[in-house]
Amino acid sequence: MSLDLRNDEAVAGPPSATDVGCPFHTDRVRIQQGEQKTLVLTGASRGIGHATGKLFSEAGWRIISCARQPFDGGRCPWESGADNHVQVDLSNHRMLPRAIAEVKERLAGAPLHALINNAGISPKTPNGARLTALTTSVETWMRVFHLNLVAPILLAQGLFDELKAASGSIVNVTSIAGSRVHPFAGSAYATSKAALACLTREMAHDYAPHGIRVNAIAPGEIKTDILSPNTEARLVPNIPLRRVGTPEEVAKVIFFLCSDAASYVTGTEVPINGGQHL
Ligand SMILES: NC(=O)c1ccc[n+]([C@@H]2O[C@H](COP(=O)([O-])OP(=O)(O)OC[C@H]3O[C@@H](n4cnc5c(N)ncnc54)[C@H](OP(=O)(O)O)[C@@H]3O)[C@@H](O)[C@H]2O)c1
Repeated sequence: MSLDLRNDEAVAGPPSATDVGCPFHTDRVRIQQGEQKTLVLTGASRGIGHATGKLFSEAGWRIISCARQPFDGGRCPWESGADNHVQVDLSNHRMLPRAIAEVKERLAGAPLHALINNAGISPKTPNGARLTALTTSVETWMRVFHLNLVAPILLAQGLFDELKAASGSIVNVTSIAGSRVHPFAGSAYATSKAALACLTREMAHDYAPHGIRVNAIAPGEIKTDILSPNTEARLVPNIPLRRVGTPEEVAKVIFFLCSDAASYVTGTEVPINGGQHL
């Protein structure tokens, strides 16, 4: 198979012998040698995003976070968080150019090693039931698609040069609901995640010649605010591992995909669902 690479395109080579070993500790050693990696993370304030920011920060990465709320140092314990936070409503595509400019300002010409498109919404009825293809309003369809699909496209496009400079990695957070009807996740949410999974494949193809890897993770039910109240009681009996997942378990897979340990992995969607795809 040919990737049709132009001769002048630099694509990341295999990791050097010094990269072999635990990627978490390798990154910490690099920090001690003055080489810090940088991550742009959307939806860092809660849930999966929060656990991801915490894990990368413990490995010594610099986190540039994006969310609607101002930075909350009490909840997000990573260093110089407030200076590296961009407050933005990612469901408003008109705000994206300004947000991207703010990220670039904070990077100040430095390479970007990872972009994690994690922020997402899953609107439900007031009593927590799923919004169906018959009952979802056009406003909800637009809000969900803008945040869950369009924002990842625009962020990746806008930060392309910085990602290319680092031979960086993009991780899109999709969902188990993208591949089957889910008892709580609505039609707009499910189709936005299916589209994001497809986008991951398209992006992996288009970004690979530039040395940028693009993968997705598809969580099942993870204990965060997004879950409907009776999710655990209703679904756990049918989950092979007989429990819902934790945000930390998701963060570890994201870390792997952004690390040198995954240097030859692109275009995948990793299920993190306790075995529900079996
Ligand atoms: N938990 C699960 O079971 C599960 C399963 C499958 C997939 N997922 C996916 O995993 C990702 C994270 O979910 P989670 O469970 O951790 O959700 P969560 O606890 O509800 O957190 C969502 C995050 O997204 C941010 N956010 C929401 N709307 C935003 C907007 N308009 N602009 C910018 N940021 C926004 C929130 O920050 P602010 O409120 O501060 O803006 C928050 O940090 C989502 O993409 C979700 O679809 C979750």
